[in-house]
Amino acid sequence: MRIAVLKEDAANERRVAATPETIRKFAALGASLCVEEGAGRHASIPDAAYTEAGAEVAPRPQAVAGADIVLAVQAPDPTALVGAKPGAWVAATFDPFGQPEKVRAYAAAGLEALSLEFMPRITRAQSMDVLSSQSNLAGYKAVLAAADAYGRAFPMMMTAAGTITAARVFVMGVGVAGLQAIATARRLGAQVSATDVRSATKEQIQSLGAKAVFVEDVAGIEGEGSGGYATEMSEEYQRAQADLVSSHIARQDIVITTALIPGRAAPRLITDAQIATMKPGSVIFDLAVAQGGNVEGSVSDQLVERHGVTIMGYSNTPSHLAADASALFARNLYNFLSAFWDAEQQRPVLDEEIGNAVRLTQGGRVVNERLPS
Ligand code: NAI
Repeated sequence: MRIAVLKEDAANERRVAATPETIRKFAALGASLCVEEGAGRHASIPDAAYTEAGAEVAPRPQAVAGADIVLAVQAPDPTALVGAKPGAWVAATFDPFGQPEKVRAYAAAGLEALSLEFMPRITRAQSMDVLSSQSNLAGYKAVLAAADAYGRAFPMMMTAAGTITAARVFVMGVGVAGLQAIATARRLGAQVSATDVRSATKEQIQSLGAKAVFVEDVAGIEGEGSGGYATEMSEEYQRAQADLVSSHIARQDIVITTALIPGRAAPRLITDAQIATMKPGSVIFDLAVAQGGNVEGSVSDQLVERHGVTIMGYSNTPSHLAADASALFARNLYNFLSAFWDAEQQRPVLDEEIGNAVRLTQGGRVVNERLPS
C-alpha cells in the first residue's frame, strides 16, 4: 500500500494533508509513504521532518507513481495524478457542489474521489470530520483578525486616564465556527451576543456566557435540516430575521458571520442599508465570503470600507493557521483511513455508511447520490 502526500496546487493554500505524526502512524500500519518535495513548507514542516518520520520525499511524478492512495487538502486537477494506480483513491476536499466538472474529470480519469466534506455527521465519524476541525480554527481566527482591524480594545479597561468600554461582538450563525468565535471573543473580554436559525443553539450560546438573539414569533420554524445542518428559511422568517438584525446590529462594534447552507450559496444576512446604521470604525468579518458571502459588498481577502465600516473575510481562513490546521486535518485523514484498515489486505476497506457518503466517483462514473450522475 503506497500513500502519496501532495504539495497543494491551489493559490493561498498553506496547509498540508499529512504531518510527521500521521506519517509515523500510517507507517506503523504497514503503508509506505512518499511526500512531495516542499509539501509542508508553509505549515512549518521541513522535508527532513518527513524523512525522519519514515517517508520518502520526492518530486511530484515520483511521489505519485504507483500510489494506491493520494492525500491532499484540496483535490488537485486529476491531470496532476498521472502515474497513480488505476482506481487509486484520492482523499481530499473536492468542493463537490462548487466544482462538478472536477468531479466528472476524476470519474473520467478512473480515480476514486473520496470527498472529506461529505463525511456523515455521526458520532463515530466526528474524529474524521475536516469541516469541524477547520471551522473551529476559522472561528477563532476570524475574531482575532477582526480585533486586529478594529481601532479599539475588546475588554473593558479601567485606567488612570479613564475607562474604555468593552467591545460588543455579534456572532451570526452558531455552528462549529460560530461557537468558537463566541468563546474567543468572550476570552478577549467582549460583550457577546449571537443568533442562528436552529433553535437548538440557544442553549449553547447561553452556556458560553453570551446573549441569544432570536426570531421568536414565526411559527413552526426549527431551521434544522438533516445531519444538524440548517435549511433555507421561509420568506416570512427571513423578513423577521432582517428586522431583528437591523435593530441589533446598529449597536454592535464587531459582527462575525458564519452562516452556511450545504449545497447552496451562503444566505445573505446583512445588507448595505444595515451596514449604514452601524457606528464608524465597526468591523464585519464574513467567514462565508468564499461561498458567496453573508454580507453585501464583502470581497475575499480585501478590506472593503462601506459607510465607515470595515468589511473583511478570507478566501481560506484555516490556511491562515496552517500549522495547526494541517495537524488537525492530517489527524482527521488518519482517523478516517485507519478506522477501516484491514490488516490482512493491508489497505482500508470502507463500510457502506461512510463509503457511500464520501465516495464521489468509482469505475469511471459519478456515484454519489447527492450529485447528478
Ligand atoms: P455550517 O457551517 O453548515 O453553518 C454555520 C451555521 O450557520 C449553522 O449553525 C447554521 O444553522 C447557521 N445558519 C444557516 N443559515 C442561517 C441564517 N439564515 N441565519 C443564521 N444562521 C444561519 O454548520 P456547522 O458548523 O457545520 O454545524 C452544524 C451543526 O452540525 C452543529 O449543530 C454542529 O454541532 C453539528 N455537527 C455535528 C457533527 C457530528 O455529529 N459528527 C460534526 C460537526 C458538526
